[in-house]
Amino acid sequence: MFHPEGPTFFQLLRQALSSVEEGYDLLAPRFDHTPFRTPDTILDAVDRRLEALGPVDAGLDLCCGTGAALPLLRRRCRTRVVGVDLSQGMMDVARRAVADEPGPPVTFHRADATRLPYREEFDLVVSFGAFGHVLERDEPALVASVWEALRPGGRFVFVTGERPRALSPGGLKARAFNAVMRVRNAVWDPPFVMYYLTFLLPRATELLRQRGFEVQVERWLFGAPFERHALVLATKI
Ligand SMILES: C[S@@+](CC[C@H](N)C(=O)[O-])C[C@H]1O[C@@H](n2cnc3c(N)ncnc32)[C@H](O)[C@@H]1O
Repeated sequence: MFHPEGPTFFQLLRQALSSVEEGYDLLAPRFDHTPFRTPDTILDAVDRRLEALGPVDAGLDLCCGTGAALPLLRRRCRTRVVGVDLSQGMMDVARRAVADEPGPPVTFHRADATRLPYREEFDLVVSFGAFGHVLERDEPALVASVWEALRPGGRFVFVTGERPRALSPGGLKARAFNAVMRVRNAVWDPPFVMYYLTFLLPRATELLRQRGFEVQVERWLFGAPFERHALVLATKI
């Protein structure tokens, strides 16, 4: 559907009728050939920005999937990198992808991003392309969970955007998709939590500040078609 090696329409349909965990387990072998993997242009721009901040010891890729951001994190971390995801299938692909690559050791843990089992273990937490899987009511738990995982002075770094205008093509598409997902989740069990327009600015920065983070938002770092995206650097003070 997206690419000869990507999932077929029926494979995507099967994924959409599963839970998030099962759906990504099914998609894992073909995920890197879908547009759901974070594009390298985004990762490269974040990498350059993090390079300017200097190296750190331990890093966590939250909702690491097949490991798109792991090379970036390994370039920025001196001692340890951890990938966390709900889907073991996605992490199995990521583990194979990093096996022969240079950098500090990478370990993988199956865990829920809103209930991480870490206390002050990381200097840097990054997350890409996954906040659509966190319900709005669970966003404070996500922020609290990352806060607990970070050491004082550590950073939570991610990319998000502003809410598009309601009648813009992007705004209409996202709202239509969300409406379909709400109906799907009302009539079909297990739910597949995936919505657009989540953890956007300014709500994300408000939640982070309420939890105690010092927040910096950097715009215009990304080239077309991502020029409306913003980088958030939230520091645990
Ligand atoms: C669209 S993929 C993005 C993967 C990768 N970060 C990237 O940018 O290519 C979303 C990932 O988030 C994971 N995920 C969804 N909800 C999660 C949760 N509550 N806790 C941990 N991982 C979750 C999924 O299993 C999936 O691997």
